[in-house]
Amino acid sequence: MIILGIESSCDETSIAVLKDGHEILSNKISSQIAIHKEYGGVVPEIASRQHVKNIATILDEALEEANITMKDVDYIAVTYAPGLIGALLVGVSFAKGLSYAHNIPIIPVHHIKGHMYANFLDHDIKLPCIALVVSGGHTNILYMDENHNFTNMGGTLDDAVGESCDKVARVLGIGYPGGPVIDKMYYEGDRNFLHITEPKVGEYDFSFSGIKTAVINFVNQMNMKNQEFKKEDLAASFLGTVVDILCKKTIKAAKDKKVKTIILAGGVAANSLLRSQLTEKAEKLGIKVCYPSMILCTDNAAMIAEAAYYKLINCKDKSCFADLDLNGIASLNVMDDRY
Ligand code: KG4
Ligand code: ZN
Repeated sequence: MIILGIESSCDETSIAVLKDGHEILSNKISSQIAIHKEYGGVVPEIASRQHVKNIATILDEALEEANITMKDVDYIAVTYAPGLIGALLVGVSFAKGLSYAHNIPIIPVHHIKGHMYANFLDHDIKLPCIALVVSGGHTNILYMDENHNFTNMGGTLDDAVGESCDKVARVLGIGYPGGPVIDKMYYEGDRNFLHITEPKVGEYDFSFSGIKTAVINFVNQMNMKNQEFKKEDLAASFLGTVVDILCKKTIKAAKDKKVKTIILAGGVAANSLLRSQLTEKAEKLGIKVCYPSMILCTDNAAMIAEAAYYKLINCKDKSCFADLDLNGIASLNVMDDRY
């Protein structure tokens, strides 16, 4: 069974070919980071235009690398929510065009479910598990008891983790996206340099806005006083605080639900400190931590195809398929995904 995955929800245009749910025949990713970098963040209109410009070429490359043609494709999986609406619409419209031209059913995929199912490409995941979803737009703890059956236990009340990394990096003037840079700087700084108070929110909820503001305020005060400081120290204090909170709450959720597996998902799952700290702390309790390989952590279409594959396994009726009236949805809670 061949699934063609399409992802265009933010600044990566990606098309993948997945065979029998486990074999990635191709996973082409065209990143726009270099273009958005000069603006310090993703510019939605530019993102949409770049997707339009690249998507047909990416398809050709993905098919060629997989050594197949559209005739071999059984299903088309496409990210329909959430994300930048103009960007999503490029992928959704492209999927609908291919579906119409080649008579192939469409399986719409919620982007966050894609991130979670990226783990299933690399690991044999035993359910039930706890998923920590950490990306540029999301921070959630989900309980997954069966295939495609999720309960949202909590999430961020304000900024997403990746978003706060990117904002802190912007204030420190260390580039975009901030996450990977802060990841490296952590090891060159003193994480005890600045004490940042943990916000008081619900036991599985998060708040990163205050943490981000504490860092920004510190930078402003130093600038006003014309005082120098080591950026690495501030990056380390910020990331250390954030990772401690993420680990504590995720492990609490795993203990409360008595699960033996935690999966990490989303762009911030690429963070080396989060990976190592969570693994170390969970292993002491006999809980296994899984995370996708680096390339499958950030936005890619293989994870979208994988989530669609697991939907198909469950799909006894036609509820996982969409008609040609499928639309992109900019903001959609993972629990409200109806496919
Ligand atoms: O999942 P993703 O590619 O896009 C969204 O769906 O949002 O995540 C992008 C986010 C960015 O905020 C980026 O700074 C963050 O993931 N990120 C990281 C790392 N690599 C990417 N954050 C921390 N450490 C990293 N190594
Ligand atoms: Zn993402």
